[in-house]
Amino acid sequence: MLGTAFLLLNGLLILLLLFTFRTRKKNEPPLDLGFIPWLGHALEMRNDVTKFLARMKDKHGDIFTVRVAGLYVTVLLDPHSFDDVLNDNTNSFDSTHIRGQLLKQIFNLQLPGNYPTSERKWMEPHFQGLNLDRLKTSMNIHLTNVMLKSFESCSPSEWREEGLFELCYSFLFRAGYLTLFEMKDDVAAIYEEFRKFDNLLPKLARSSLKQEEKKMVATSQERLLELLSPKCLNGESEANSWQQSYVQFLQQQGIDVDMQKKAHLLQLWTTQCNAGPAAFWLLSFLLTHPEAMEAVKSEIRDLLSLQDTSLQRHHLNWVEGASTPVFDSILNETLRLTTSVSIRREVVQDKILRMANGKEYRLRRGDRVLLFPFLSPQMDPEIYEEPEMFKHDRFLNKDKTVKKEFFKDGKQLKDYILPWGAGKSICVGRKFAVTTIKQFVFLLLTHFDLELCNPDTKVPPFNQSRFGFGMLQPDGDLQVRFRLKRTQPEI
Ligand code: HEM
Repeated sequence: MLGTAFLLLNGLLILLLLFTFRTRKKNEPPLDLGFIPWLGHALEMRNDVTKFLARMKDKHGDIFTVRVAGLYVTVLLDPHSFDDVLNDNTNSFDSTHIRGQLLKQIFNLQLPGNYPTSERKWMEPHFQGLNLDRLKTSMNIHLTNVMLKSFESCSPSEWREEGLFELCYSFLFRAGYLTLFEMKDDVAAIYEEFRKFDNLLPKLARSSLKQEEKKMVATSQERLLELLSPKCLNGESEANSWQQSYVQFLQQQGIDVDMQKKAHLLQLWTTQCNAGPAAFWLLSFLLTHPEAMEAVKSEIRDLLSLQDTSLQRHHLNWVEGASTPVFDSILNETLRLTTSVSIRREVVQDKILRMANGKEYRLRRGDRVLLFPFLSPQMDPEIYEEPEMFKHDRFLNKDKTVKKEFFKDGKQLKDYILPWGAGKSICVGRKFAVTTIKQFVFLLLTHFDLELCNPDTKVPPFNQSRFGFGMLQPDGDLQVRFRLKRTQPEI
């Protein structure tokens, strides 16, 4: 009996070694397995991905392969060489399988194999041309209503105190939801459940929820599916709305009702999880950098002085199409400092990766490739002087136009920030997002007095669990007080 157990154990050990032992072959990137069999660097990477990748970059350079929970991940950190992965025309990389796994893990959503391409084809026109104009106008109206109505019961001189993150997320979520989803009744309940779900989402994606949290996330998910689904799936929402069109698209794809509901939750998260946190970081930087606040206010003052009637000004139409290089620079600088996207691909056939410096590396089929733009290029000191500092004019030329030329190794970079992802899965809503954030910040600054409760407060640190999930979120909040201005708009 003991002998059999011993033999079995030996066999298992040999299998483990066979499956976890890998040596670097000719022309492959440097290989770093870590000390723990199979797991490799998984724990260090999970604890602080930026620190881990920076350590590996110091050790191996701009390309290396690490073992992470049984997978071999080639990390590419030279932004001049991203193109060979992002715009590969040899069909060597695939992102649908990885995305499918994530959707299953987070939303319990299973879609047909060709679905991502069809969805993208359906989605793109909704965020372009006349449709985009319609969305921007609708967002403008909802933002104005949501923000001003929340003050209807207050006297003009009354200060309100709140966490800035909560303030930005709730206003932008409500207005964004009303713009795309158009079911007016339940927005407060949906926002409340959404925040619970969003808080636990990174842990859910990494399968690291505690028992109690598993229950919480399941309850929130169930409640959200209930709140989101019935009216639209019965065809009761407004015709021609984005949501109505989405339901039709899902039906044409032959997706069953259960999966349709889950797909709605995915879209709710994709379209609403980034703008609020982005506005929070931008306003945090403005409130803690008086020279930046003054620069943006001066730009708004100039724009307002060009407007004819107060009615026009009131509805924020003046924000549309106006040239705002100072604001654009501040937004770019905010996104550079606070977006952390993981761009992942699966290598589906052996591939020779050509680096910009002329070196070639062999990538093995079945491995993964990871780009992590937060570290490189966004935090690269060769591209950005003092990269961890907020500088409001970093993206401004001397002649006050938006700066688009950044260099590394003496060569101009094509991609110097990648807040929207890249390649086939780049954010479809990016133009809408920029206008939305601009509308929100301009509305807030022209209609409200806003100040820090404690002028010495610092911008809160990042919540480490959000790295790799797009817009980062704060660990804590920034307390602010605000009140309606006596006359609006005014700055
Ligand atoms: C600052 C705000 C935003 C940031 C930083 C951002 C960032 C991103 C990123 C990084 C992705 C790619 C995810 C991936 O690789 O799978 C993405 C996808 C997407 N975003 Fe955004 N986003 C923002 C706001 C918005 C808004 C406001 C909308 C629409 C209302 C939107 C709609 C979408 C959609 C539909 C996709 C999925 C594209 C696809 O699957 O092909 N985003 N976004």
